[in-house]
Amino acid sequence: MPIPYALVRRLLFALDAERAHRATISALKLGLAGARPPKGNPVEVAGVRFANPVGLAAGFDKDAEAVDALLGLGFGFVEIGGVTPKPQPGNPKPRVFRLTGDQAVINRYGLNSAGAEAVARNLEKRRKPGVVGVNLGANKESEDRIGDYAECLKVIGPLVDFATVNVSSPNTPGLRALQDRAALTGIFERLHAAQSGGRAIPLFLKVAPDLSDADIDDIAEAAPEIGVAALVVSNTTIARPNSLTSPHAQETGGLSGAPLMGPSTDLLRRFHEKLDGRVPLIGVGGILSGADAKAKIDAGAAAVQIYSGLVYRGPELVGECVEALAQA
Ligand code: FNR
Repeated sequence: MPIPYALVRRLLFALDAERAHRATISALKLGLAGARPPKGNPVEVAGVRFANPVGLAAGFDKDAEAVDALLGLGFGFVEIGGVTPKPQPGNPKPRVFRLTGDQAVINRYGLNSAGAEAVARNLEKRRKPGVVGVNLGANKESEDRIGDYAECLKVIGPLVDFATVNVSSPNTPGLRALQDRAALTGIFERLHAAQSGGRAIPLFLKVAPDLSDADIDDIAEAAPEIGVAALVVSNTTIARPNSLTSPHAQETGGLSGAPLMGPSTDLLRRFHEKLDGRVPLIGVGGILSGADAKAKIDAGAAAVQIYSGLVYRGPELVGECVEALAQA
């Protein structure tokens, strides 16, 4: 009988957010969360068969330390990373904050990563089946960010089922400028070329919720042409809605959790209208309940991902979302 999350949450919330996260990863690695076979109905996205449409979003298991345990929570797929080619420490602490009253999180980790080689070694230790993707990142000091994505793909691609290009983290200066059409074309050309001749995995693109109307038009037009296999909508936001009440609301970084549900679902709907099924969509941002997951599917998503909801609702949220979508 697993311990109710309400109890675990009280212990975790007594720690600062980063320590709580490390403790959670350690507990998962020790097998304390148990394992259940995935429920729900399989879904195929960009040729990859997810055991169900509910995935773990990037950033939770950056270094692929607990992939088997996370799949054991019932996720249909898990996205590890962001991974950078070289190890990098990320920003100084504190760099992640719970906004408990708002059921939200602000983070400015700045892509702390053990580096692609170390992450590959962790993936080689996996013992259980299940779909895993990698979130590709670039080193902060890199002079060739596109080369960084290609390097990560080369090292980790052979060990995973899909890769997501992250040009939408607000915590690496200048990164989001890569969301324009010319830059995206360059990135996808380079990554497709890097995979030519060998096993090619589908390449997803993850966008920010803070795009201008012109950016949205640009990305929707370019995506099918440049070989984006799926669009992940969305990353965290730099916006700060007036509704926020928590003391940490004005911390610098990306906001996720409940306040992101509306904006990221609106953006998802807009991409759905513009793409009309030509590129499948993965809906992420603010899912705190099965009903939220269902709202993403209704807005056009083929699958969903969650992160911050796990902080507030625990692993029970996974089953709730899977069930809500199985009934849909
Ligand atoms: C993230 N997210 C993220 N996204 C990404 O593409 N690469 C990354 O490395 C990270 N890192 C990261 C760390 C932390 C602490 C958080 C909270 C989030 C963004 C994440 O994958 C997701 O897109 C957003 O958090 C929105 O979903 P939720 O959290 O509202 O369900």
